[in-house]
Amino acid sequence: MRNFESINGQMTIGGVKAVDIARKYGTPVYVTDEARLRENYRNVSAAFNSRMPTRINYALKANNNLAVLRILEKEGSCIDAVSIGEVELCLKAGFSPDRILYTGTSVSNEELSMLAARKVPINIDSMSEMRRLAEIAPGHPISIRVNPGVGAGHHAHVMTGSKTTKFGVPKGAIVNAYSEAISLGFNPFGIHCHIGAGVQVIDPFLEVTDVMIDIVNEIKDVLGLQLEMLDLGGGIGIPYKPEDHEMDLDAMADAITGRVLESTGIKQLVLEPGRYIICDSTVLLATVHDVKETPDKRFAGTDAGFHTLIRPAFYGSYHHVAVANRFGAPNELAYDVVGPICESGDFIAKDRKLPRLAEGDVLVIYDTGAYGFTMASNYNARPLPAEVLVSEGQTYLTRERQTMDDLIRGQKIPSRLMV
Ligand code: LLP
Repeated sequence: MRNFESINGQMTIGGVKAVDIARKYGTPVYVTDEARLRENYRNVSAAFNSRMPTRINYALKANNNLAVLRILEKEGSCIDAVSIGEVELCLKAGFSPDRILYTGTSVSNEELSMLAARKVPINIDSMSEMRRLAEIAPGHPISIRVNPGVGAGHHAHVMTGSKTTKFGVPKGAIVNAYSEAISLGFNPFGIHCHIGAGVQVIDPFLEVTDVMIDIVNEIKDVLGLQLEMLDLGGGIGIPYKPEDHEMDLDAMADAITGRVLESTGIKQLVLEPGRYIICDSTVLLATVHDVKETPDKRFAGTDAGFHTLIRPAFYGSYHHVAVANRFGAPNELAYDVVGPICESGDFIAKDRKLPRLAEGDVLVIYDTGAYGFTMASNYNARPLPAEVLVSEGQTYLTRERQTMDDLIRGQKIPSRLMV
């Protein structure tokens, strides 16, 4: 877990006091530290590229803010996109189509046509998708997603590589898939897998690397096709809890690249980290509006609920919480930190020891850069929060808070109901 600087009991991020950001932009607000984002990108890229050529395809499903994308474009990152919407955002942020790899699931013909028109390479998820693409865009650049039968991740919902998930072509059918790709006129450049998200140990990555190496070699032996690119997906975990350990990227890179260099003709490794790059660069600031004590519980009612950050409610995820305006004060009392949504599953933290809270306190919710804003919703007709970038003591509004007008935009009442 990341440490933030404290000045006279005030938490700072990117050289700015969190309470000043809360006052200027209101809460709830997501605040991203540009320096940390750049550092994370450089860490993962250097760990692998110092050993073999590795393309980092940032998974923007984690965070698709255009300013974040611009920063990563300038850093030299490439992109893992899962929808035509994500592709459009990346093109808008300045990525050329060859720096994007589209990995969709349940892909429509319309989306395939739009991708082909934009010349974005496609990572095929199923035989159905491949055959339809052969009709729509013959010879389009493709790779194929394998279901490797190796799944891992922080929750069952996000383990994608296990045999029974909907993703990819089963590994037992993969040689035939490449054979059919060739007969359909494709020249597949690579192969892809993704075991899952938020993986906090190295072993499953090594296990899947071995599976993929065997497949690459089998494709070469049986079909005479040497694949150029091996994409091992995303999923590098981060320490959310104070006692969690950081992943040892050097050890991971050493073990993976060692295996790949030794046993295949693969020229380029690809990784698709989302969380690792963006997660700890960002905090969510929320204001305590209501403090309630019942005979059984003590609640801190804030303006951030599961409409703002759904991970605690959806996956039972831990997000560290601190008080920005009394940063470092000793924890005294256990609170359920809850939001304004009318469901009892609306919580940010449960039974969390915090300093004694008062109305008006500003809470810092850590590690919310990944799957925070992108999974936020308008439930209970609550506007989506603002996003702010901080860099060298300056703040920049990068996404306006939604307004009441945004909530009704696009809705139409049939005229017969207006009389
Ligand atoms: N590549 C593929 C094909 C993926 O499906 C994903 C995540 C990634 C890369 C990036 O995984 P990361 O490096 O960020 O762990 N909403 C969940 C995470 C779902 C991830 C889905 N796929 C959460 O809040 O933890």
